[in-house]
Amino acid sequence: MTGATTQEHKLRLGVNIDHVATLRNARGGDTPSPLRAARMAADAGADGITAHLREDRRHIRDGDIARLKDEISLPLNLEMAATDEMVAIALEHLPHACCLVPEKREELTTEGGLDAAGQVAHLAPRIATLVDAGIRVSLFIDPDPDQLRTAHQMGAPVVELHTGAYCDAAQNQREDQREAELQRIVEAAAVAGELGLECHAGHGLCFETVAPVAAIPNLVELNIGHFLIGEAVFTGLEAAVAEMRRRMDAARAGIGS
Ligand code: PXP
Repeated sequence: MTGATTQEHKLRLGVNIDHVATLRNARGGDTPSPLRAARMAADAGADGITAHLREDRRHIRDGDIARLKDEISLPLNLEMAATDEMVAIALEHLPHACCLVPEKREELTTEGGLDAAGQVAHLAPRIATLVDAGIRVSLFIDPDPDQLRTAHQMGAPVVELHTGAYCDAAQNQREDQREAELQRIVEAAAVAGELGLECHAGHGLCFETVAPVAAIPNLVELNIGHFLIGEAVFTGLEAAVAEMRRRMDAARAGIGS
Protein backbone atom coordinates (compact mmCIF):
# COMPACT_ATOMS: atom_id res chain seq x y z
CA MET A 1 0.00 0.00 0.00
CA THR A 2 1.46 3.39 -0.94
CA GLY A 3 1.74 6.28 1.48
CA ALA A 4 -0.91 8.18 -0.51
CA THR A 5 -3.36 5.28 -0.28
CA THR A 6 -2.77 4.94 3.44
CA GLN A 7 -3.52 8.63 3.86
CA GLU A 8 -6.65 8.31 1.73
CA HIS A 9 -8.00 5.61 4.05
CA LYS A 10 -6.93 7.31 7.25
CA LEU A 11 -9.59 7.57 9.91
CA ARG A 12 -9.32 10.76 11.95
CA LEU A 13 -9.24 10.50 15.73
CA GLY A 14 -10.86 13.25 17.75
CA VAL A 15 -9.82 12.98 21.39
CA ASN A 16 -12.48 14.11 23.83
CA ILE A 17 -10.81 15.64 26.89
CA ASP A 18 -13.95 16.33 28.95
CA HIS A 19 -13.02 13.95 31.72
CA VAL A 20 -9.67 15.55 32.38
CA ALA A 21 -11.80 18.57 33.27
CA THR A 22 -14.11 16.37 35.39
CA LEU A 23 -11.09 15.37 37.45
CA ARG A 24 -9.84 18.95 37.68
CA ASN A 25 -13.26 20.18 38.81
CA ALA A 26 -13.38 17.58 41.59
CA ARG A 27 -10.76 19.68 43.45
CA GLY A 28 -11.74 23.08 42.12
CA GLY A 29 -8.20 24.05 41.04
CA ASP A 30 -6.33 24.11 37.75
CA THR A 31 -5.03 20.55 37.56
CA PRO A 32 -5.13 18.24 35.77
CA SER A 33 -5.20 20.66 32.85
CA PRO A 34 -7.39 19.86 29.83
CA LEU A 35 -5.03 22.02 27.78
CA ARG A 36 -2.05 19.88 28.72
CA ALA A 37 -4.10 16.80 27.84
CA ALA A 38 -4.92 18.32 24.45
CA ARG A 39 -1.23 18.97 23.77
CA MET A 40 -0.35 15.38 24.70
CA ALA A 41 -3.14 14.05 22.51
CA ALA A 42 -1.80 16.14 19.63
CA ASP A 43 1.72 14.80 20.17
CA ALA A 44 0.38 11.24 20.28
CA GLY A 45 -1.36 11.46 16.90
CA ALA A 46 -4.84 12.85 17.52
CA ASP A 47 -6.28 14.70 14.55
CA GLY A 48 -8.62 16.89 16.56
CA ILE A 49 -9.68 17.84 20.06
CA THR A 50 -13.29 17.40 21.10
CA ALA A 51 -14.90 19.04 24.12
CA HIS A 52 -18.50 19.21 25.29
CA LEU A 53 -19.52 22.47 26.90
CA ARG A 54 -22.54 21.40 28.89
CA GLU A 55 -25.21 23.74 30.13
CA ASP A 56 -24.21 22.92 33.74
CA ARG A 57 -20.43 23.20 32.95
CA ARG A 58 -19.84 19.95 34.82
CA HIS A 59 -16.57 19.34 32.96
CA ILE A 60 -15.34 21.70 30.22
CA ARG A 61 -15.93 25.38 31.02
CA ASP A 62 -16.06 28.53 28.93
CA GLY A 63 -12.44 29.45 29.66
CA ASP A 64 -11.31 26.01 28.47
CA ILE A 65 -12.98 26.53 25.12
CA ALA A 66 -11.25 29.89 24.66
CA ARG A 67 -7.83 28.42 25.47
CA LEU A 68 -8.32 25.26 23.43
CA LYS A 69 -9.22 27.40 20.44
CA ASP A 70 -6.37 29.87 20.91
CA GLU A 71 -3.53 27.65 22.13
CA ILE A 72 -4.00 24.27 20.47
CA SER A 73 -3.13 23.91 16.80
CA LEU A 74 -5.47 20.96 16.15
CA PRO A 75 -9.03 21.56 14.94
CA LEU A 76 -11.47 22.01 17.85
CA ASN A 77 -14.78 20.17 17.73
CA LEU A 78 -17.18 21.82 20.17
CA GLU A 79 -19.98 19.51 21.24
CA MET A 80 -23.00 21.44 22.43
CA ALA A 81 -26.75 21.51 22.77
CA ALA A 82 -28.56 23.49 20.08
CA THR A 83 -29.46 26.35 22.41
CA ASP A 84 -29.18 30.07 21.73
CA GLU A 85 -26.58 30.38 24.51
CA MET A 86 -24.35 27.73 22.92
CA VAL A 87 -24.80 29.09 19.40
CA ALA A 88 -23.65 32.50 20.68
CA ILE A 89 -20.58 30.91 22.31
CA ALA A 90 -19.76 29.08 19.07
CA LEU A 91 -20.06 32.30 17.09
CA GLU A 92 -17.74 34.03 19.55
CA HIS A 93 -15.00 31.38 19.42
CA LEU A 94 -15.52 30.00 15.90
CA PRO A 95 -14.33 26.43 16.51
CA HIS A 96 -13.49 24.36 13.45
CA ALA A 97 -16.58 22.22 14.10
CA CYS A 98 -19.72 22.04 16.20
CA CYS A 99 -21.41 18.76 16.96
CA LEU A 100 -24.99 19.29 18.06
CA VAL A 101 -26.00 16.84 20.77
CA PRO A 102 -29.11 16.28 22.87
CA GLU A 103 -28.61 17.30 26.48
CA LYS A 104 -30.49 16.46 29.63
CA ARG A 105 -29.26 17.88 32.90
CA GLU A 106 -29.88 14.67 34.83
CA GLU A 107 -28.07 12.32 32.42
CA LEU A 108 -24.60 10.99 33.23
CA THR A 109 -23.54 11.16 29.58
CA THR A 110 -25.18 11.81 26.22
CA GLU A 111 -27.86 9.14 26.13
CA GLY A 112 -28.95 8.49 22.57
CA GLY A 113 -28.78 10.74 19.56
CA LEU A 114 -30.59 13.93 18.65
CA ASP A 115 -34.15 13.57 17.49
CA ALA A 116 -33.39 15.56 14.34
CA ALA A 117 -36.60 14.47 12.63
CA GLY A 118 -38.70 15.67 15.58
CA GLN A 119 -37.02 19.08 15.94
CA VAL A 120 -36.62 20.46 12.45
CA ALA A 121 -38.09 23.89 13.27
CA HIS A 122 -35.69 24.28 16.21
CA LEU A 123 -32.56 22.84 14.63
CA ALA A 124 -32.65 24.06 11.02
CA PRO A 125 -32.12 27.79 11.71
CA ARG A 126 -29.37 27.11 14.23
CA ILE A 127 -27.58 24.78 11.81
CA ALA A 128 -27.85 27.49 9.13
CA THR A 129 -26.39 30.14 11.47
CA LEU A 130 -23.39 27.96 12.33
CA VAL A 131 -22.81 26.86 8.72
CA ASP A 132 -22.99 30.50 7.56
CA ALA A 133 -20.29 31.33 10.12
CA GLY A 134 -18.00 28.78 8.42
CA ILE A 135 -18.30 26.16 11.18
CA ARG A 136 -18.52 22.51 10.14
CA VAL A 137 -21.76 21.31 11.72
CA SER A 138 -22.47 17.73 12.61
CA LEU A 139 -25.53 16.19 14.20
CA PHE A 140 -25.06 13.43 16.77
CA ILE A 141 -27.78 10.95 15.82
CA ASP A 142 -28.65 7.31 16.26
CA PRO A 143 -27.79 5.13 13.26
CA ASP A 144 -31.28 5.54 11.83
CA PRO A 145 -31.86 6.32 8.11
CA ASP A 146 -34.77 8.71 8.89
CA GLN A 147 -32.53 10.79 11.14
CA LEU A 148 -29.83 10.84 8.45
CA ARG A 149 -32.28 11.99 5.80
CA THR A 150 -33.54 14.77 8.07
CA ALA A 151 -29.97 15.87 8.86
CA HIS A 152 -29.32 16.08 5.13
CA GLN A 153 -32.54 18.01 4.46
CA MET A 154 -31.62 20.53 7.16
CA GLY A 155 -28.28 21.23 5.51
CA ALA A 156 -25.97 19.61 8.07
CA PRO A 157 -22.85 18.52 6.12
CA VAL A 158 -21.82 15.92 8.72
CA VAL A 159 -23.45 13.34 10.97
CA GLU A 160 -21.91 11.54 13.92
CA LEU A 161 -23.43 8.12 14.56
CA HIS A 162 -24.01 7.24 18.22
CA THR A 163 -22.15 3.98 18.92
CA GLY A 164 -23.39 3.71 22.52
CA ALA A 165 -25.91 0.90 21.94
CA TYR A 166 -23.26 -1.19 20.13
CA CYS A 167 -20.72 -0.58 22.91
CA ASP A 168 -23.24 -1.34 25.67
CA ALA A 169 -24.16 -4.64 24.01
CA ALA A 170 -20.46 -5.49 23.72
CA GLN A 171 -19.79 -4.63 27.35
CA ASN A 172 -22.75 -6.73 28.49
CA GLN A 173 -21.61 -9.60 26.25
CA ARG A 174 -24.87 -9.76 24.33
CA GLU A 175 -23.36 -11.03 21.09
CA ASP A 176 -26.50 -11.03 18.91
CA GLN A 177 -27.34 -7.52 19.94
CA ARG A 178 -23.75 -6.37 19.44
CA GLU A 179 -23.82 -7.72 15.88
CA ALA A 180 -27.23 -6.15 15.17
CA GLU A 181 -26.12 -2.76 16.51
CA LEU A 182 -22.92 -2.93 14.49
CA GLN A 183 -24.98 -3.69 11.40
CA ARG A 184 -27.15 -0.63 12.05
CA ILE A 185 -24.00 1.51 12.11
CA VAL A 186 -22.69 -0.11 8.90
CA GLU A 187 -26.01 0.52 7.14
CA ALA A 188 -26.35 4.07 8.43
CA ALA A 189 -22.82 4.88 7.24
CA ALA A 190 -23.80 3.59 3.80
CA VAL A 191 -26.92 5.80 3.78
CA ALA A 192 -24.75 8.77 4.79
CA GLY A 193 -22.53 8.03 1.80
CA GLU A 194 -25.54 7.92 -0.57
CA LEU A 195 -26.74 11.27 0.80
CA GLY A 196 -23.29 12.83 0.47
CA LEU A 197 -22.97 13.37 4.23
CA GLU A 198 -19.58 13.14 5.89
CA CYS A 199 -19.93 10.40 8.49
CA HIS A 200 -18.34 10.24 11.95
CA ALA A 201 -19.03 7.95 14.92
CA GLY A 202 -18.45 7.86 18.62
CA HIS A 203 -19.54 7.19 22.20
CA GLY A 204 -18.38 4.42 24.46
CA LEU A 205 -15.64 3.14 22.14
CA CYS A 206 -12.74 1.26 23.74
CA PHE A 207 -9.89 -1.01 22.62
CA GLU A 208 -12.29 -4.00 22.41
CA THR A 209 -15.01 -2.27 20.40
CA VAL A 210 -13.14 0.09 18.10
CA ALA A 211 -11.89 -2.26 15.36
CA PRO A 212 -15.19 -3.24 13.70
CA VAL A 213 -16.28 0.41 13.70
CA ALA A 214 -12.93 1.67 12.43
CA ALA A 215 -13.19 -0.81 9.54
CA ILE A 216 -16.42 0.75 8.18
CA PRO A 217 -15.19 2.38 4.96
CA ASN A 218 -17.54 5.40 4.92
CA LEU A 219 -16.51 6.62 8.34
CA VAL A 220 -13.92 9.39 8.35
CA GLU A 221 -13.69 10.32 12.04
CA LEU A 222 -14.13 8.74 15.47
CA ASN A 223 -14.50 10.77 18.65
CA ILE A 224 -13.33 8.96 21.76
CA GLY A 225 -13.00 10.26 25.32
CA HIS A 226 -14.02 8.47 28.49
CA PHE A 227 -12.16 5.23 27.79
CA LEU A 228 -8.96 7.04 26.75
CA ILE A 229 -8.86 9.17 29.89
CA GLY A 230 -9.57 6.12 32.07
CA GLU A 231 -6.94 4.04 30.30
CA ALA A 232 -4.43 6.87 30.71
CA VAL A 233 -4.70 6.45 34.48
CA PHE A 234 -3.33 2.93 34.15
CA THR A 235 -0.71 3.61 31.52
CA GLY A 236 0.49 6.70 33.41
CA LEU A 237 0.13 5.77 37.10
CA GLU A 238 3.30 3.73 37.31
CA ALA A 239 5.45 6.58 35.97
CA ALA A 240 3.76 9.13 38.23
CA VAL A 241 4.23 7.01 41.38
CA ALA A 242 7.87 6.26 40.46
CA GLU A 243 8.58 9.98 39.99
CA MET A 244 7.03 10.80 43.39
CA ARG A 245 9.09 7.99 44.99
CA ARG A 246 12.26 9.40 43.37
CA ARG A 247 11.61 12.94 44.62
CA MET A 248 10.78 11.80 48.15
CA ASP A 249 13.86 9.60 48.32
CA ALA A 250 16.07 12.41 46.99
CA ALA A 251 14.72 14.80 49.63
CA ARG A 252 15.34 12.32 52.44
CA ALA A 253 18.85 11.63 51.16
CA GLY A 254 19.51 15.37 51.51
CA ILE A 255 18.68 15.31 55.26
CA GLY A 256 21.76 13.33 56.13
CA SER A 257 24.24 15.41 54.15
N1 PXP B 1 -19.21 11.95 20.44
C1 PXP B 1 -20.17 12.68 21.06
C2 PXP B 1 -21.09 13.49 20.22
C3 PXP B 1 -20.27 12.71 22.46
O1 PXP B 1 -21.24 13.44 23.06
C4 PXP B 1 -19.33 11.98 23.22
C5 PXP B 1 -19.38 12.04 24.71
O2 PXP B 1 -19.24 13.35 25.14
C6 PXP B 1 -18.35 11.27 22.54
C7 PXP B 1 -18.32 11.24 21.15
C8 PXP B 1 -17.27 10.50 23.26
O3 PXP B 1 -17.85 9.47 24.01
P1 PXP B 1 -16.95 8.70 25.06
O4 PXP B 1 -16.49 9.70 26.07
O5 PXP B 1 -17.86 7.67 25.61
O6 PXP B 1 -15.79 8.12 24.30
